[in-house]
Amino acid sequence: MPPRDLLIERLHDLQDRHGGLYPRDLDALAAEFALAPSEVFETASFYAHFRLLKEDEAPPAAVVRVCRGPACEMRGAAIVACDWAAKAHVEDHPCLGRCDHAPAILVETPRTATASGHGYLLLGRCRSGGLNREAAQAELEAAGLRGMGGAGFPTARKWRTVAGHPGPRFVVVNADEGEPGTFKDRHFLETAPARVLEGALIAAWVVEAEAVYLYLRDEYPHIRAQLMAEIAALPPGLPPVHLRRGAGAYVCGEESALIESLEGKRGLPRQRPPYVAEAGLFGRPTLVNNVETLYWVCEILDKGAAWFADHGRHGHSGLRAYSVSGRVKHPGVRIAPNGITITELIDEFCGGMEDGHSLAAYLPGGASGGFLPAHITPPLAFGAIEDHGGFIGSAAVTVFSQADDLRAAAAGLARFFAHESCGQCTPCRLGTARAAEILDRPDWDIDLLGELAHVMREASICGLGQAAPNVWQSLVRHFPEVVR
Ligand SMILES: Cc1cc2nc3c(=O)[nH]c(=O)nc-3n(C[C@H](O)[C@H](O)[C@H](O)COP(=O)(O)O)c2cc1C
Ligand code: SF4
Ligand code: FES
Repeated sequence: MPPRDLLIERLHDLQDRHGGLYPRDLDALAAEFALAPSEVFETASFYAHFRLLKEDEAPPAAVVRVCRGPACEMRGAAIVACDWAAKAHVEDHPCLGRCDHAPAILVETPRTATASGHGYLLLGRCRSGGLNREAAQAELEAAGLRGMGGAGFPTARKWRTVAGHPGPRFVVVNADEGEPGTFKDRHFLETAPARVLEGALIAAWVVEAEAVYLYLRDEYPHIRAQLMAEIAALPPGLPPVHLRRGAGAYVCGEESALIESLEGKRGLPRQRPPYVAEAGLFGRPTLVNNVETLYWVCEILDKGAAWFADHGRHGHSGLRAYSVSGRVKHPGVRIAPNGITITELIDEFCGGMEDGHSLAAYLPGGASGGFLPAHITPPLAFGAIEDHGGFIGSAAVTVFSQADDLRAAAAGLARFFAHESCGQCTPCRLGTARAAEILDRPDWDIDLLGELAHVMREASICGLGQAAPNVWQSLVRHFPEVVR
């Protein structure tokens, strides 16, 4: 009998082969994994990418995922969706992670790749005693490296905590970026896949992990092919690296939901951090790090803490990758000083605003980071935006101009959260749905929106429900003329 954690992989295999999942497929999997058929159904139906078909239903001949995220909506996603609907089965998507190429679509085709043959010299230096575990962690501490997945937790401190719990331990690479507007992990995995693996293996060396699990969002099939090639070409003697495929659930980027998903279940967030054994992968202490964090681990250990720390601006230190999309001349991933302001980022790194457009508003941290008006320009850094009712998160910066409809953008984001709420806790399940309904109306009930925000922030289990109210509360606070 295969282990439960392979269930989602097997669901993918069957869907790839049949174009969808038939009741007979789910029954066969239930028998194979010795699970109740309802358990298999409940897992398959949780994930947006699994297409549940009736026994006599033909699968769609061609499937095109059309992005309906903010950057794509401002570049005509609705027209693109209409055009494709005549030729193929169209599935709307909240963000395909290609916001710099908006409007984006994804057509699934088989991909192959060859390994880059990266030397893994830094990893070799670590494992051969050229660098010891304490020195590596001290270097990351001196650099001030914080988690780039959104929460900004100091990386070395997290490593020490995980290493302090009795083993066996695991390392998980979070490559599930799904926050609308975020595509920086795609950039690192496209341009430096082996470097990211090297960072993960260094983390595994420091915390003495038994294995590495890399959870990759399903929207990046070309990266999946590349990582398979890189993993097959890893030098011998390393802990095994298991590549796992997400299935279209934004909440699975939250680390405890991700662990549930890695175990082959629905992605329901847990209430404890993963280094507490019971809440970790397979009931073991687990270190979860974002792709970009692991990339910077290698850069810092190679070039030194001072090199990294010296790059900041406006009282902040370090570098980070900003995913910039929207009305700028050159959207893309920009490696820029931590703490740069929006105007500096646009002018110095993105060629300025698009012709005919001036900055009206921006999302500094994706869908959950709140809208800010052009005249509020705090450093784009952890802890610097909170006073304005937002946060930097994974630094997904979407730029809006006078030509854009902020009400419509907010309504779209509210629908996104309502769709992606896992439904486990009532404030988030009902609050996101109710807010989406209100934001779709011409007149918003501001008092009710405020009450919903209060309850969701106070009583939601995970960051999704706690941060979703930033969408509308930031408009209420900074854009009264839009909300009225
Ligand atoms: C709703 C939600 C979605 C998240 N999505 C991601 C994600 O896609 N990628 C990611 O690395 N972290 C994501 N996070 C943050 C993770 O929970 C976690 O903090 C991070 O993976 C830890 O790695 P880091 O310390 O290297 O940032 C998300 C958090 C929440 C609440
Ligand atoms: S806050 Fe939302 S997404 Fe998070 S556990 Fe509760 S219902 Fe699920
Ligand atoms: S790819 Fe469309 S908004 Fe991200």
